[in-house]
Amino acid sequence: MGLASPAIRYPEPVPILITGGGGRLARELLPLLPGAIGPTRAELDVTDPGQVDAAVQALAQRAHAAGEDGIVVHAAAYTDVRAAEDDRDACYRTNVLGTRHVAAACARHGALLVHVSTDYVFAGDADPERAARGGYREDDERGPTRNYYAQTKLLAEDEARAAPRRLLLRTSFRPREWPYASGFTDVRTSQTYVDELAPELAEAIRLAPAIVAQGIHTLHVAGAPTTVFELARRRKPDVRPASKAEAGVDLPDDVVLSTALWRRLRDAC
Ligand SMILES: NC(=O)c1ccc[n+]([C@@H]2O[C@H](COP(=O)([O-])OP(=O)(O)OC[C@H]3O[C@@H](n4cnc5c(N)ncnc54)[C@H](OP(=O)(O)O)[C@@H]3O)[C@@H](O)[C@H]2O)c1
Repeated sequence: MGLASPAIRYPEPVPILITGGGGRLARELLPLLPGAIGPTRAELDVTDPGQVDAAVQALAQRAHAAGEDGIVVHAAAYTDVRAAEDDRDACYRTNVLGTRHVAAACARHGALLVHVSTDYVFAGDADPERAARGGYREDDERGPTRNYYAQTKLLAEDEARAAPRRLLLRTSFRPREWPYASGFTDVRTSQTYVDELAPELAEAIRLAPAIVAQGIHTLHVAGAPTTVFELARRRKPDVRPASKAEAGVDLPDDVVLSTALWRRLRDAC
């Protein structure tokens, strides 16, 4: 996939609301999607159904006035995988209940929901047959999940299905800089760096109304298969090879996502 393609910029503004606007992914997406707004958690707390409803209603009104589809990109989440093990209530409230509120508001106000999900909804066991066919496909069975964060993201997908017009966008990415001294040689991934992936995700968001109109509700957008160590080495050449046994939390062996459907859709549009 052309992840190295130049940043995609859209000429006309699209009415888009991105939750978790202060987050890593949202900050990359906002400049790529003119017309998008990204309230921070202080401005829009997804655990508060009243705040969510008001924000989605305002988006829908703005969109309808422009004769457009309003799109809600639900990127807000409790994302600290290690901390989630001890802070389960907060993680559940944000990831599961927060998504419930966002999906309900989208259903109520006719907005299209793009729910940002993760490769971690899959078990991620090593499977040479699956690897040979390019990784997990959209309709592969999810779970059993490896950790509590992953479990809440799986449940969040189920909550997102309450929005009739929805796209579950499964992806995986890292911050611009490799943040650790080491990288795991025993985890296969289709993660890439957030600044490389954001243009692809922005394009998928922009195309979401057309994709959903085809009856497609789940889509994988990610990078090329690699190991976490190789990925780390691209931006931190002196990174130390390590094993996931050092992580302190259960991590998958191979969670590569097949992006064949996305490539087909993109080529057809
Ligand atoms: N990073 C990855 O590898 C990865 C992979 C696949 C999918 N994803 C998904 O991609 C999305 C964005 O992740 P990210 O890496 O950009 O994470 P991030 O940097 O942690 O951003 C998440 C944002 O959500 C906000 N947030 C937390 N609780 C909230 C609440 N109750 N109401 C509103 N906002 C809230 C956070 O605000 P505070 O900073 O104030 O807490 C933060 O700004 C998430 O849905 C994540 O599950 C991430």
